[in-house]
Amino acid sequence: MTEALEIRNLRVAVDGREILKGINLVVPKGEIHALMGPNGSGKSTLAQTLLGHPRYEVLEGEVIWKGRNILELSPDERAKLGLFLAFQYPVEIPGVVLGNFLHIAYQAVKGTEIPIGKFNRMLMQKLRLLDMDASFISRGLNEGFSGGERKRCEILQMALLEPEFAVMDETDSGLDIDGVRIVASAVNKLYEQSGNQMGFLIITHYSRILNHIQPLHKVHVMMDGRIVLSGGPELANELEEKGYDWLEEQLKAEGVLA
Ligand SMILES: Nc1ncnc2c1ncn2[C@@H]1O[C@H](COP(=O)(O)OP(=O)(O)O)[C@@H](O)[C@H]1O
Ligand SMILES: [Mg+2]
Repeated sequence: MTEALEIRNLRVAVDGREILKGINLVVPKGEIHALMGPNGSGKSTLAQTLLGHPRYEVLEGEVIWKGRNILELSPDERAKLGLFLAFQYPVEIPGVVLGNFLHIAYQAVKGTEIPIGKFNRMLMQKLRLLDMDASFISRGLNEGFSGGERKRCEILQMALLEPEFAVMDETDSGLDIDGVRIVASAVNKLYEQSGNQMGFLIITHYSRILNHIQPLHKVHVMMDGRIVLSGGPELANELEEKGYDWLEEQLKAEGVLA
């Protein structure tokens, strides 16, 4: 049986208001799926719930990975099961640079110690793979990163941890065209490095990043807290051309949406 991240009838509330209204979604390992949808449809709510953010209240449903319902596990335990759900960014720790933080995070997730020299060699290798500047890892965590830099931190951390499955939310927001290409190419490289075994759920409002993701196996569209449509990569282009309003009208006409 292929392993998969399987979301079953997931209902989630924020501040007492139901946002996710029964999500069903299966993303097998070895496949790259995109989750698209208009602003406010609940995409980030899904990402935060998968991550285990305490503010998001699970009303019903489960998320199965490796035979476990990860919603019952701490964010730490989820990471140890090979899930990468977001860049784990500590609240400003004065004096800690990104490279050292990544070392600490790596040891925590892997549950082993790795000497700093050996770690740094691995880090350099990943920086090269991702075409990132080495000076980046000397940046202080407390200096604050721009949206684009944060995404690079996320990609770098993911490359180091070599997860089996990654969820990326709004990976392209705050990025210019070059940034989008770098992130997309990083996804492609990490997928390839895994021997096409990794799974990805890439959450995005825009199709532009998806144009650079290869292969893209499936595209799902979320509206009003539900998956309303799933299809192949061509669905992303169709949405880009015609817009979400067009789809909403169509789904209303078909009685899929109220
Ligand atoms: N932390 C939060 N506090 C209050 N409302 C929230 C919070 N997160 C999400 N929401 C609400 O949930 C809905 C879905 O938001 P979100 O998941 O961010 O959508 P998307 O990522 O698709 O734009 C919106 O109506 C938003 O106002
Ligand atoms: Mg969002």
